[in-house]
Amino acid sequence: MLKSKDLLGLHDLTAEEICEILDGAVETKKFLRGSYRKSDALAGKSLITLFYENSTRTRTSFELAGKYLGATEVNVSVATSSVQKGETLIDTGETLDSMKIDFIAIRHPMAGAPKLLAEHVKASVINGGDGMHEHPTQALLDMFTLKEHFGKIKGLKVAILGDIKHSRVAMSNLYGLSKLGASVSMYAPATMMPKDLEKLGAHVEKSREEAVEGADAVMGLRIQLERMNGGLFPSLSEYARYYGVNDGVMKHAKPEAIILHPGPVNRGVELTPALIDGDKSYILEQVTNGLAVRMSILKLLAEYREKNL
Ligand code: CP
Repeated sequence: MLKSKDLLGLHDLTAEEICEILDGAVETKKFLRGSYRKSDALAGKSLITLFYENSTRTRTSFELAGKYLGATEVNVSVATSSVQKGETLIDTGETLDSMKIDFIAIRHPMAGAPKLLAEHVKASVINGGDGMHEHPTQALLDMFTLKEHFGKIKGLKVAILGDIKHSRVAMSNLYGLSKLGASVSMYAPATMMPKDLEKLGAHVEKSREEAVEGADAVMGLRIQLERMNGGLFPSLSEYARYYGVNDGVMKHAKPEAIILHPGPVNRGVELTPALIDGDKSYILEQVTNGLAVRMSILKLLAEYREKNL
């Protein structure tokens, strides 16, 4: 049983809550493998997607998750909504809440925006990514992918490489993987590595090779050009050559290591195209698992609402 009406970040979830979501996703993935994808688990419930930033995977999978579970699903297009007339986040949230909705999946450029919204609405708020803070559903789908492939998370070594400073995915994975007993090593150019990550449990390494040494999984992260003012690396080709993941770097990982990336990928920058499309890549499986995990989250939050609200 989840302990809150909202899912805002993995920092605040217990290991038991994370496991419950991952266990639920085993069932929803079985459902997705079937040829008839319609259930009435959320019949009579409603889900709003409210994305203040672009998205393909997260928004679409929330929408499909709601629809497959029988909920009424509506996307509020921020570009054509009253947000453009200056409506505040709280006013928008209270307006939507007045339409008797059950879930809001939100993405926002400001860290903490989902929490602020959650404090002002009765609906369950799910964080679809807030600034450089957290992207909990992405980390949960990454963890599900690892657990499905390796049969466990405890004891795995996961290497995360790339633009860690601007990455909410890196933060949520660090919290979640550490709670479930995985070791997380990280490497980034000095300009893209935040301070004090060791205090949160990360092993911050001095080179790509050291970070990847003996890893079970290697996760590349997208350069978040939209969150930087430039000047953090000389050029994309030099970034690829000195900081990207290629065959030479992967030789340091375990032979059976898999490659993950939250997407969208800058092809040939964070990862070589051969690795993206190769047999070690689980990038598209991650997308499928995102749908399974988001279905699991919606079902568990619905159970919380049924019992507590
Ligand atoms: N990984 C991820 O959040 O992708 P989208 O931006 O397409 O949702």
